[in-house]
Amino acid sequence: MKKHYITTPIYYVNDLPHIGHAYTTVAADALARWRRLCGDDVFFLTGTDEHGRKIEQAAARAGRTPLELADEVVERFHSLWGLLRIENDDFIRTTEERHKRCAQKLFSAAFENGDIYPGEYEGWYDVREESFITATRLDEINKLPPEKRPVLEKIKEECFFFRLSAYRDRLLEHYEKNPGFVMPKERMNEVRSFVESGLKDLSISRTTFSWGIAVPGHPRHVMYVWFDALSNYLTAAGYESDPERFAKTWPASLHLVGKDILRFHAVYWPAFLMSAGLAPPERVFAHGWWTVEGEKMSKSLGNVVSPPEIADEFGVDAFRYFLMREIPFGSDGDFSRKALAARINSDLANGLGNFASRALGMVERYFDGAIPEPGEALAEDAPLRRQAGEMTRDFSAAMDGVAPGKALASLWKLIGEADRFVEETKPWEMHKKGEKEKLSRVLWTLCEILRIVALHSHPFMPAAAGRLWEKLGFENTIGRSGGKETSFEWGALGSGARVKKGDNLFSRVNEV
Ligand code: ME8
Ligand code: MG
Repeated sequence: MKKHYITTPIYYVNDLPHIGHAYTTVAADALARWRRLCGDDVFFLTGTDEHGRKIEQAAARAGRTPLELADEVVERFHSLWGLLRIENDDFIRTTEERHKRCAQKLFSAAFENGDIYPGEYEGWYDVREESFITATRLDEINKLPPEKRPVLEKIKEECFFFRLSAYRDRLLEHYEKNPGFVMPKERMNEVRSFVESGLKDLSISRTTFSWGIAVPGHPRHVMYVWFDALSNYLTAAGYESDPERFAKTWPASLHLVGKDILRFHAVYWPAFLMSAGLAPPERVFAHGWWTVEGEKMSKSLGNVVSPPEIADEFGVDAFRYFLMREIPFGSDGDFSRKALAARINSDLANGLGNFASRALGMVERYFDGAIPEPGEALAEDAPLRRQAGEMTRDFSAAMDGVAPGKALASLWKLIGEADRFVEETKPWEMHKKGEKEKLSRVLWTLCEILRIVALHSHPFMPAAAGRLWEKLGFENTIGRSGGKETSFEWGALGSGARVKKGDNLFSRVNEV
């Protein structure tokens, strides 16, 4: 079976991890956990981007070597991913030997194919973005008010060029044949028009500084940091080190990226791969950007959202849920404590939390805490059974379409329907009237809904889903057991297990 290979970008180590990093990584983790739950073989990669002019400068400012800076920041990423319950299968650092060998192998392959030639680059460079400025971009920049212009460096240096211009038609053909290569669709259109408008050859080595991977056979050159960085996806798949694993892993199923770095992934990257005779990734999904309390997030504004602080204040699962639920994946959105608190109260404490307490409380009261027998289906529960089936299909389709917010919306729709089912069937009256069989059916149905809800919330809220799982009396860890109870099909819940209502799954928070 081919692996389902999901990646995040590798993050620059000049910055501490912020909400943007958390966003992409939580999304990748949710998609990976979902695939594992479906029984797929998953390989989920994240890591750090440690070379280039920007890191070199940041280290110099801090009075450290670039590697010292990287070692320190990498620890911050590791601890954040631990805290946010990210279950990546590998973590790559571009300063690792395995990566240097791999990037060099890719460079050599393109070189041997005649796509790399020596020359001289003269022009502007944006160090923060690590990108060469095209003539059109320079015009745009010059039209910006001075305070909005990026800091540019003028460079003139010997370098190697990659024959990107030669890939115009092949890229367009690839987009034509694979309309889902870039998502969302509007982004595919942007990428296509960029390529249609013509491609210039790209400088892919630098000779005026040294913090990078040496070009094979030309040690005066270090690779352009984006050539180095993109090849991380090959390194971890075993391109250089493990051909057998590579054959099962490549091409990547999904590169998740922010919209700002789409061009690197959807234009340069497939061209580099084609040059080396390798398949492009199956899909590149570009998500949107978060503002914070209505403002652009920036170090100078001092409004950078620190994920550990938010997780500490509101809870890890609530933070993960909010990131995935609040805005459609692909659109921009705003992060605010107010919106987060409102989501927690309405969807988690009131929505899922109350429903679970209510259902389990009735099992405790009327059946001494043991999940009752399903008995015969009732006319009253037919719609809910149908809605549960619909949710499972919608959820799965949304996850296939990289729409985690939509998947969650369909799950919460089911919770609302189950709440209404309780209101309509009034189990407390069945109890009063002594309608034991009907009551048994209704409460079993509610527990079955909770089982299905726990399963589907696991990718997003692994700890809360695990607690719900335990409340339902399951002994195996959710997402791992592979037992009958992890089936998505209606009816897999047995009876007799002891439930525990306990506290609400989520606490309400004060809305500010
Ligand atoms: O670009 N909202 O690394 P990086 C949402 N090393 N996403 C945001 C964001 C925000 N406010 N701010 C940043 C790099 N991001 C390269 C990648 S991959 C081969 C190399 C996202 O640390 C941004 O869109 O600058 C990008 O996807 C990611 O954070 C990493 O940014
Ligand atoms: Mg960036």
